[in-house]
Amino acid sequence: MISFRNLGLLAKVNIIVAGILLSFFALSTFLNYHQQKAFILEESVEKARIIASEAIQAREYLSRQLQIGDVELSHGRYGLIPVVASTRIGELVAEDLDYRIRQISDRYRNPKNAPDVFEAAMLQRFYGSPYLREAFQISTLQGERVFRYLQPFRAEESCLECHGDPAAAPDYIKELFPQDRDQAYNYRIGEIIGAASVTIPMDKLSRQIYANLRNDILYTGGIFLALITCLGLLTRIAITQPLNQLGGAVREVMHTGRFEEKIPRRGGDEIGILIDGFNEMIDNLQEKTEHLEESEKRFRLLTETARDGIVAFLSNGQIIMFNRQAERMFGFSKMEIIGVSIERLIHEDCASIREVSIESYLEKNAAELMRKIHKIPGRRRDGARFDLELSMSVAESDGHLFYTAILREREQS
Ligand code: HEC
Repeated sequence: MISFRNLGLLAKVNIIVAGILLSFFALSTFLNYHQQKAFILEESVEKARIIASEAIQAREYLSRQLQIGDVELSHGRYGLIPVVASTRIGELVAEDLDYRIRQISDRYRNPKNAPDVFEAAMLQRFYGSPYLREAFQISTLQGERVFRYLQPFRAEESCLECHGDPAAAPDYIKELFPQDRDQAYNYRIGEIIGAASVTIPMDKLSRQIYANLRNDILYTGGIFLALITCLGLLTRIAITQPLNQLGGAVREVMHTGRFEEKIPRRGGDEIGILIDGFNEMIDNLQEKTEHLEESEKRFRLLTETARDGIVAFLSNGQIIMFNRQAERMFGFSKMEIIGVSIERLIHEDCASIREVSIESYLEKNAAELMRKIHKIPGRRRDGARFDLELSMSVAESDGHLFYTAILREREQS
């Protein structure tokens, strides 16, 4: 698995930004959902209020018109009884609009108007709190999620005609609902007589919530997506591309050792400064390398044209430099002798060197060797002995000692 640290800059930026936006997105969706829900609930309450109020207004209007017209209600005109008529009108409208309205009472006359469990509980609440003008809740009805709303009715003067003293009720009412079997008589003015009950299926409301939410998600999601894309593009153009170029140039320099690759200048932003710094560094390195090559050339020329043999070796005796005059003296080429021990160049006659390892010999005698010019027997490639004058010096480089021997062939006397 690739760890986050090893991802490209662009991928990192994208992941971080996407994470942040996604959190915002989730939060905004969550808040939106709740706002939508609150809004829909508010709307449902408003709708239910209108429905209930319409039923009540219809009943009151009818009641007044019957009084003005002096219409005598009877068995045959049962459907004109205001409560009956308004309930029927409500039912007809409800069929079209997919909600339900009922006028219910604990002391019902018509069993169809008996409250269900929820309505009965709400009625109890109304009895308990005389100032409560409405109540609503989301609940379930026959397995369906519904919004339920109730508004209580209180008995007024006009109601008592049929709901007051049973003796004073119209004959057809008395006939239909004999006093001994009916519970809807004997109300007093102001007493709660029942309630308008409105039920709206939540299904439709939820669908609306989800439709609104979906539009919202699409909208915010679209904006976030555009934002991420723009940011990714910007990161690529402004950061990762120039950095890649820089990385490529550095790699090129490392591989080829040539300092020709330069990166085109760009503005004065952080990456621009980095690029300028890189170009400057390349210039400096190029100059230094040229100087180095120059001085190396000079050094080589100096040693190669010297009339003395010059041999440099490490403290373990390993030869690291061998000039042309030394080649001539000993009969070895550079190629052959570099890396070989200095002992190879000293004749067996020089016993003091052979006694111990060259390393410990140098350790013990280096100071003495360096103080003055020594005479030692040299050994040519073919094993022949010849006399040498030796002067030594020592230097340190990279923590290693290395010795330089300047050799001159002594005239045979
Ligand atoms: C003309 C007689 C009459 C008058 C006036 C009258 N009602 Fe009724 N009411 C009835 C009858 C009859 C029923 C039974 C309806 C049915 O069969 O659905 C009824 C039913 C009800 C119900 C439904 C519960 C039940 O008992 O079945 C409520 C609630 C109600 N009336 C409230 C009122 C209120 C409030 C008023 C005054 C604003 C009022 N009524 C005025 C005759 C009347």
